[in-house]
Formats: sequence, structure tokens, C-alpha cells
Amino acid sequence: MTTRFAFEKLAQDGKARLGRITTPRGDIRTPAFMPVGTAATVKAMMPESVAQTGADILLGNTYHLMLRPTAERIDRLGGLHTFMNWSKPILTDSGGFQVMSLAGLRKLTEDGVRFKSHIDGSEHMLSPERSMEIQRLLGSDIVMCFDECPALPADRARIEESMRLSMRWAARSREAFGDRPGYALFGIQQGGLEEDLRGESAAALREIGFEGYAIGGLAVGEGQEAMFGCLDFAPDQLPEDKPRYLMGVGKPDDIVGAVKRGVDMMDCVLPSRSGRTGQAFTRHGVVNIKNARHADDPRPLDENCTCPACRNYSRAYLHHVFRSQEMISGMLLTWHNLQYFQDIMAGMRDAIGNGAFAAWEADFHAGRAEGDI
Ligand code: GUN
Ligand code: ZN
Repeated sequence: MTTRFAFEKLAQDGKARLGRITTPRGDIRTPAFMPVGTAATVKAMMPESVAQTGADILLGNTYHLMLRPTAERIDRLGGLHTFMNWSKPILTDSGGFQVMSLAGLRKLTEDGVRFKSHIDGSEHMLSPERSMEIQRLLGSDIVMCFDECPALPADRARIEESMRLSMRWAARSREAFGDRPGYALFGIQQGGLEEDLRGESAAALREIGFEGYAIGGLAVGEGQEAMFGCLDFAPDQLPEDKPRYLMGVGKPDDIVGAVKRGVDMMDCVLPSRSGRTGQAFTRHGVVNIKNARHADDPRPLDENCTCPACRNYSRAYLHHVFRSQEMISGMLLTWHNLQYFQDIMAGMRDAIGNGAFAAWEADFHAGRAEGDI
């Protein structure tokens, strides 16, 4: 194998970084937004359409795929890339976070977590070792450490204890992952909103050594101000020469604020999920397409957008198919939202490269309305 996993920083403007991750499956331009393909599909999208929006990488989920159709079946069928017809890089989350939010009846021990499937109630186990095995069977290019993320608000003792467990699991994840050229293992920083706990977590991860570092445990109900407060120090605690990934974020203004603070990668279900519930993100703010005032509106959703929903259809049509519960509604709005998120990323990458991030950010915030437009 000639191509190894590598990260190169190409420019920096303030704390915002422009970079490139190189993998055997292709390059990832950073800052990068990763659409979520939980169950081996970005819901309502063909993979080639996802690529057309400008996505270089998708996120998949250990938790969902281990339950259905199982990692062993995906492996027998040639791995996740072949199975879902996506040849570019895939990052998989490790399962711990999804167990905590989705599974029934969990039992957490030093070894790992036992849980009941949210699909059929069957019993399963995840540990650092089993999570690494599943992510290897899937063929994931970027593997995430198995961690635990306490729901906020939690008291300091609980956050500290959980963070230390996650750091012991990070060491076991590194050991179980082994030496796999071309593939990457990312550590996950925990520690809630506490600067010293985040610092302790970062030090533990740096000591182990990873190809990239994620910031976990945010966007779990603390609000944007608290999250930005934490992002004012958390990225700086992680290695400067490795990619930094903020997990599960977020709304367009969360993404811009995170990049401004030194984050290189993000993922969120928001553009795809909102697309299916009739919410469109635009340069001017959020459009709720189900609102009756769109029923006679011949204008496109966003006159500046190049996506099929905006090029070929009116707000009136999008309103009609949403109200009629037609499948094309979710398809068009998801495409639009993913296009808009990727356009934001491309705009930020250009701006950082040109040393014009502040001006780009001012422009981004200008002309955006709070609430529906
Ligand atoms: N997704 C969003 N937050 C987290 C986190 O803290 N850990 C993991 N594994 N996934 C996440
Ligand atoms: Zn559009």
C-alpha cells in the first residue's frame, strides 16, 4: 500500500485551519462535514448524489450495523464500502455513545457494556476489543475509540470517573486496533465542560498516540454558549499536527463557530433528518416548507443554491409533496440541506486559504434571520 493516512495543514487564519487528510480511498478536504449514513445509507440519498454535494467522507455506526445486518455479514459481502456502494472514506463511530442513547437495559462495567437491542430486545456486548473488531470487519477507514459519554448536566465526580474509564478504554482500543497502515484510529477527549478534566483527557490520549483526536461529550444539551466556551480551550489541548473532530455537531452556526475555534471535522444528522421533517437550511435562515405561506410561492427554496431542489422546483411544489407525504419530499430537502452544509464548508475552506475567514464569517451571519423565514 503506497498511500498512508496523513494530515497536512495547508493554511491557518486565526485558529481556523485549512487542511487535507490523505487516505487510500481518497482525500478529505478539511474543514470537512460528514453526512451521517447510520444504517449503511444516508437516508433518502443515492451515494453518488451525496458525493455530488461535495462530501468526501461519510459516517457510519457500529451500534446499528452490528445489530442489523451484523458486521460479520457485511464483511462476507465485501465490507461496508462495497455493500453500500460508497468508495470514498468512511468513519465509523464506536457504539458506546449510541448504546447510551438508544439501547434498552444497559450494564456498564470496566470491561464494557452489555445492552439490549432497541430493535428486537436481543442481548449484546460492546467492549473496546469488540468495537475494534466490528469496525475492522466493516472496513472503516477512520475508526473511533470505544468511549463513554455521560449526559449533561452531570456532576463533576461522575464526569471525572467516566472520562478516566474512557481513557483506559482508549488505551485498550489502541492495543486492539493494532498496526493497520492506511487506516486510522482516533482518540476521543471527554471531561464535560471542565478545562482541567479536558486537559487531563487530552494528555492521556496524546500519551497513547492517535492518528486524529475527537472532542466528544459536547452538543449533549449544554447549549451553544457553553459549547463554544469549552471549544475556546479544548482544541488547543489536542495535537496541532493531527485532525480534530467535533462529534455530533451541528447547526450551521455551530459548525462555523467550531471551525473558527480550530476544529477540522464534524458530523451531524441535522441536514438529513431535518430534510425528512420539512425543514430546510438556507443562507437566509430556516424554511419550514410545511408552512401554508409557501403553497403559492413560485420561487425556489434558495435562489443561490445549485441543488436539484432549488434548480428544478418551486417552494409551492416542495410544500405540496411534503403535505402529500410523497417520498420525493425527503429526497429533495435532504439533498438541498446536504448541499447547503457542504457549500458552507467549501466557503470556509476558500476563506481560510485566502486569509479572509473573519470577513466570510461576518457575511455568513449577515442576512440570517432567527426563526422561520
Ligand atoms: N457522538 C457525539 N458525541 C459523542 C461522544 O462523546 N462519543 C462518541 N463515541 N460518539 C459521539
Ligand atoms: Zn438547494
